[in-house]
Amino acid sequence: MAEIRVTERNGEARTISADSGRPLMEALRDANFNLQGTCGGAMSCGTCHVYIKQDWNDKLPAKSEDEQMMLEAIADLVEVRPTSRLSCQIELSDALSGIEVEIAPEV
Ligand code: FES
Repeated sequence: MAEIRVTERNGEARTISADSGRPLMEALRDANFNLQGTCGGAMSCGTCHVYIKQDWNDKLPAKSEDEQMMLEAIADLVEVRPTSRLSCQIELSDALSGIEVEIAPEV
């Protein structure tokens, strides 16, 4: 299990738990954070965009070229930060338990 500390778009904080091995996107979507994940993880929608707290961002695998391209594609619509990630590309694990994320504005 992984614990996820989430800051919602309205600034409220909530902690949820999710099974390791699942994409972060699915855990956030299923916990009703109003995160769409429209493309189901194909890196073609950008609706799973989150900001990762810096300390945790440093522990994640680097973005793939496709993830980077999708983030660049939504940068005209929403703020994209160095810690921006597509949550569909982050696989939860016990090592990531406690990860702190902020739901990015809707695209
Ligand atoms: S779910 Fe579409 S880019 Fe992540």
